[in-house]
Amino acid sequence: MLILIMICHRISYIAITFASIIFNRSDLLNKHPDRLLNNHPPGVMYKEIIQPILFKLDPEKAHHLTAEMGQLFCSLPFLGRLATQRHVGKWPDAKQFLMGLRFSNPVGIAAGFDKNGSWPNLLRFSGFGYAEFGSITAQPSDGNPPPRLFRLPEDHALINRMGLHNDGAETICRRITKLKYRSPKLFRDFPAGINIAKTHNPEITGDAAIEDYLSSYRSARTVADYITLNISCPNTKEGITFEDSRALTDLLHGIKQVRSADDPPLLVKFSPDTQLPTLDELVQICESFDISGYVLSNTSANRDGLKTPAEQLSLIGSGGLSGAPLFERNIARVAHVRKLLPDNKILIGCGGIDTPAGAVRMLKAGAHLLQVYTGFVYEGPALIPAINDAISAEMDKEKCATMRDWLQMHHKN
Ligand SMILES: Cc1cc2nc3c(=O)[nH]c(=O)nc-3n(C[C@H](O)[C@H](O)[C@H](O)COP(=O)(O)O)c2cc1C
Repeated sequence: MLILIMICHRISYIAITFASIIFNRSDLLNKHPDRLLNNHPPGVMYKEIIQPILFKLDPEKAHHLTAEMGQLFCSLPFLGRLATQRHVGKWPDAKQFLMGLRFSNPVGIAAGFDKNGSWPNLLRFSGFGYAEFGSITAQPSDGNPPPRLFRLPEDHALINRMGLHNDGAETICRRITKLKYRSPKLFRDFPAGINIAKTHNPEITGDAAIEDYLSSYRSARTVADYITLNISCPNTKEGITFEDSRALTDLLHGIKQVRSADDPPLLVKFSPDTQLPTLDELVQICESFDISGYVLSNTSANRDGLKTPAEQLSLIGSGGLSGAPLFERNIARVAHVRKLLPDNKILIGCGGIDTPAGAVRMLKAGAHLLQVYTGFVYEGPALIPAINDAISAEMDKEKCATMRDWLQMHHKN
């Protein structure tokens, strides 16, 4: 009998937590008679129940399982629609009009989470203000052989060497076009960025590499609200990137040849590992090609200062590090690049954002928008509304009615 009561108690808690998430009523949780769990935000369900189960699974399988289940739930005829729209209209002061696009809030999902444009309902449900799909490449690719994604819980980090696996630019752009056509409401004030990279094939080099980017660009421009050039992916077989002044100039020159006036805004995503003088030089090159903004930054090859034991790191092997260890380095880079550029040049702060306070700091340091990936894996979907709540609260405290005023005030300092 006691066991039955305990089971019912637990089920009722889970049901209330679900309801509190779907209907955005964290107060519902406080009505549950569970003394231990009272007053916890909805994120407790993810951290205490879902994450421990997921972290027992292979990281890549866990990623697909959760995202597929979330997308399925969010696509249900009535409940799904209700759930997906639960944050619509919230945080009116966090709205921004940038690059000709309306962002319902500044927090986006970083590239790599939804490479194939498969889970937009889940992303909207989670409270993101925009999404960056991809990286897409001209040719479809299976990426590197598994295992290729590893958790570093002690560091709140991940290492991946996925190798740009994706369904290919044409297929993915067709999928996103259909989604936008069928569900215009889903994409209202929710820009869909597309991140493009070079196909994962070491034989594609020189002019062929540029043509490969151009092919993805031509597909992406038909549907993307903005396009990000990923010139910094460290996971290609040949291990080199376009973060070289000659290679970058040739690539941007190639894009300029095919670019037309009504194409979506173009951004460039850098690595966190380039030395500052090189970064400055690359930014100057981009500026001469009329780039709308920059994503700072991609994953890192640097393993300095990690708590994860060196033996474990050497067993994992190569790959890009993401998550908390990148945060301080990235915030410094955002502040540095902000000083090089005019106020209206868009900077997207990305790397290690896993707390509301960190997100607020990144915006104050010089970013207009944010992107999150690893923090979402560790903290769950409650992180995104928590960040937006914190931004609104901070603006309130500093008596700023619009993001524009708030950011201008901080970016000038
Ligand atoms: C598993 C995984 C796959 C990724 N794939 C891509 C990708 O395809 N293209 C890209 O530009 N960035 C990719 N990234 C990098 C993220 O977009 C982001 O720049 C980086 O993870 C830092 O942010 P975070 O600390 O919030 O994760 C990937 C990151 C992870 C963890």
